[in-house]
This record gives sequence, C-alpha cells and structure tokens, in this order.
Amino acid sequence: MTDSPSPAPAAADQPLLECRNLVRNFKSGDGELCVLRGVDFALHQGEIAGIVGSSGAGKSTLLHLLGLLDTPTSGEILYRGKDLARLSQEQAAKVRNREFGFVFQSFHLLPEFSALENVIMPGRIGAGALAWMRDADKLRAAAEDLLKRVGLGSRLSHVPSRLSGGEKQRVALARALMNRPAVVFCDEPTGNLDSRTADEIFALITEFNRERGQTFLIVTHDQHIAERAQRRLQMADGRFVAASAPTGADATAP
Ligand SMILES: Nc1ncnc2c1ncn2[C@@H]1O[C@H](COP(=O)(O)OP(=O)(O)O)[C@@H](O)[C@H]1O
Ligand SMILES: [Mg+2]
Repeated sequence: MTDSPSPAPAAADQPLLECRNLVRNFKSGDGELCVLRGVDFALHQGEIAGIVGSSGAGKSTLLHLLGLLDTPTSGEILYRGKDLARLSQEQAAKVRNREFGFVFQSFHLLPEFSALENVIMPGRIGAGALAWMRDADKLRAAAEDLLKRVGLGSRLSHVPSRLSGGEKQRVALARALMNRPAVVFCDEPTGNLDSRTADEIFALITEFNRERGQTFLIVTHDQHIAERAQRRLQMADGRFVAASAPTGADATAP
C-alpha cells in the first residue's frame, strides 16, 4: 500500500508484461553460457500462468529478468507497454516494489523480524521515511489484515524459526501482496511443502487472483499445481516449447 495512484490498467489487448527475444548469457570460464535463447512471452492481466520444465531450463532466470531482479543480455521487457530497460535504477526499484511481488521456494523471510514485521517491510520500503512516520498505523493494519487472510492471525509476533514451512510461505505470500502488486512472481512456491500444504497455498493464490484480479506467474515442479494453472507453459533449454492449457484457457501462447 502506497499513496501513489494506481497505474492505469493495461489496454484490453495489451499484455500486462511481455518479453521479446530475451537473451541471458552468463560468463563461464573463458566462454559464455547461454541460458535464455531468445524468449518471447506475454502475460495477461488477471491470469495465473504456470511454467514447468526440467531443472536448469532457465525458469528462475526468466522470472528474475521479468521481475527486474536481473538484467538481460539483450531483448526487451515491456510492462504495460513500456520498455523497462529505459527506466532509471530508481524508477525500476519503484516498479519492483509497487507493481511486483515475489514468493520464493525457501521463503526468504528476515529471520530476526516477526511475521507482522516481515509483511510490513515492502510497505515501509515503498512508503519512504516520511510517509512511513505518517502511515505506520495504516500499514500495520493492512499487514495484520493480510496475515489474518492467510490464516495467521494468531502468529503475528512469531519469528520465522517458530513457524512451520507452510506458515512461513503464508507469511511470504502476505508479504508479496502487501503493496497490492499487479504481478506476483512465484518461484517453486510449494517446493518445500507437503502436498496438502501446497494445495492450501495454491488455493490462497487462486482466491487473491479472483478477488483482486492479481496476475500470478508461477514456476513449479508440482504437476498438480501446474495442471490447475489457467495456462501452462513448458521451458526447455532456454526456450518455451509446446504449451498446453488443461483448463481450457488459451493454448496458443506464449
Ligand atoms: N548467476 C549465474 N551465473 C552462472 N550461471 C547461472 C547463473 N544463474 C543461473 N545459471 C545457470 O543457468 C542455468 C539455468 O538456471 P535456472 O534459471 O536457475 O534454471 P531453473 O530455474 O529452470 O532450474 C543453469 O545451468 C544455471 O547453472
Ligand atoms: Mg529455478
């Protein structure tokens, strides 16, 4: 939650987030490792898209690039039609903080902070020092609401080491949603959870998607989760290969 006005919605036919001919190479000894080999992909407002593919296919690399956590070797990334490469570092940080949320396999919670403080953190960072002093109560209430929404109303003051894996991921999901992002990137969000807990996390994702129209891009090894995404994409060796859409959604993408 920030005081900034909500960005204009994407035009109906305009993808929310798109990449064109995205390439990412890494230096490897004397040579170069080509991890993404020209990826074209479009994510539409309000969808839940799942990306599957074997380990090392480039899924995390793609997510990091789309989420502005990494910079491509070449290619374009467009958010609401705007080229993200043209943003200054400061503007990119704002987009990352306000428009995007992240959920990782190993939770990445700050161990010395309570569940509530972890969830507030993106709001605090987004607000800046002055607005934080003014809006701390409001942000705290929003974080508390989110934690209640994910079933952790009685765990607000627990530090991560006193939470189960499923509870940690609920905190991480609440944190990702704190600033009401348009896009939530989830990298193997259920990879460390048993199947029942994984289903509960996915059910929460589906609820937020329906209620708030938030868009989710989920990398997963979990076939059960992948099959329930509205669109399923498969990556192999740095590219998307034939996609399938088990729930009847658009099967022609990326
Ligand atoms: N920072 C990096 N430096 C060098 N190689 C990397 C780096 N990040 C990823 N890679 C390599 O890129 C390939 C794809 O990695 P990744 O995107 O994490 O795959 P996935 O998420 O599909 O399992 C792997 O071979 C990995 O070793
Ligand atoms: Mg990965």
